[in-house]
Amino acid sequence: MLLAIETSCDDTCAALLDGGRILSNVISSQAAAHAGFGGVVPEVAARHHLELATPVVEAALAEAGATLDDLEAVAVTAGPGLIGALLVGVSTAKAIAASRRLPLIPVDHLQGHVAANFLEPEPLEPPFLCLVASGGHTQLAAVRDHERHEILGQTLDDAAGEAFDKVARLLGLGYPGGPVVQKEAQSGDPEAFEMPVAMQRDPGLDFSFSGLKTAVLYRCRELGEDGVRERRADLAASFQKAVVDQLVAKVRRALKKGHWEAVALGGGVAANGPLRAAVAELCERQGVALKLVPIALCTDNAAMIGSAARWAHPVAYPDYLGYDAFATGERMAA
Ligand SMILES: Nc1ncnc2c1ncn2[C@@H]1O[C@H](COP(=O)(O)OP(=O)(O)OP(=O)(O)O)[C@@H](O)[C@H]1O
Ligand SMILES: [Mg+2]
Repeated sequence: MLLAIETSCDDTCAALLDGGRILSNVISSQAAAHAGFGGVVPEVAARHHLELATPVVEAALAEAGATLDDLEAVAVTAGPGLIGALLVGVSTAKAIAASRRLPLIPVDHLQGHVAANFLEPEPLEPPFLCLVASGGHTQLAAVRDHERHEILGQTLDDAAGEAFDKVARLLGLGYPGGPVVQKEAQSGDPEAFEMPVAMQRDPGLDFSFSGLKTAVLYRCRELGEDGVRERRADLAASFQKAVVDQLVAKVRRALKKGHWEAVALGGGVAANGPLRAAVAELCERQGVALKLVPIALCTDNAAMIGSAARWAHPVAYPDYLGYDAFATGERMAA
């Protein structure tokens, strides 16, 4: 049995896995603690992780009907993410593993989002094309084996989720932005405002969302406070459509370039209903299989970290005692 811990951003997560089977997957969201700031405050996140790490691990063990004695290894997100937040997870995992002389398995967070697709039931086997769109990343990945993914294209500026969060703030919708913008957009007209769909003429597979965010900012300035309130649903729908159109256009281009037989989605933005529908339509038209993981496995969770850990390198006790987290930079050898 494997215990996995994830604390890279503002969710404190622990999961128990038996192979690819999820025995428990506990997520304690700190969203309420950050909502007043319109985004995640790193120091606040780290402090909350400190308070929540032990109860969340205890809850995951209890839900799985397990104790620490049942564990064979401990997996943890080593990066990338907020360094203070990561350090709490890594220290917790090291302490639990060391107390039982168990191996520690450091996991790359982005490989975790990809590996959500390997979980039971109906695990997706490589090779497949994976669109990972989250709060900090937006990338198209070639997944040829379980161990790693190759980045085919990525955002040149903001991540798609970051754009959702910033636009939600502009529209006075709160944090996190994705779910509230999606909800608001339901009653809006996606054609009401013309928004730039970036990178259309770019022959590659990179993305860009900062121009779109600025376009929404200018529309808001023109409309004024009352105007924004009146047209909020239309603004949300038009913005969301531009994001989905860009993401889908790049998946279409990647399919044309790479002859993939299956497509998968990962990261928080993969929870977006219109994006899921648009990718499903594209895949159906192209005769390509599509894997959509449940929404709870799109946003940050520890089950996906445990899934990636199955193909990552375990570090034996006591070699990991000096192991550190990493905020950015070189991806770890997964
Ligand atoms: N329904 C939705 N529609 C669009 N975006 C969404 C939806 N649900 C969540 N998101 C976005 O997903 C992001 C959170 O995803 P995730 O938890 O994977 O990101 P992260 O862990 O903060 O970033 P990273 O994985 O890059 O380190 C937020 O930006 C949020 O607004
Ligand atoms: Mg994430």
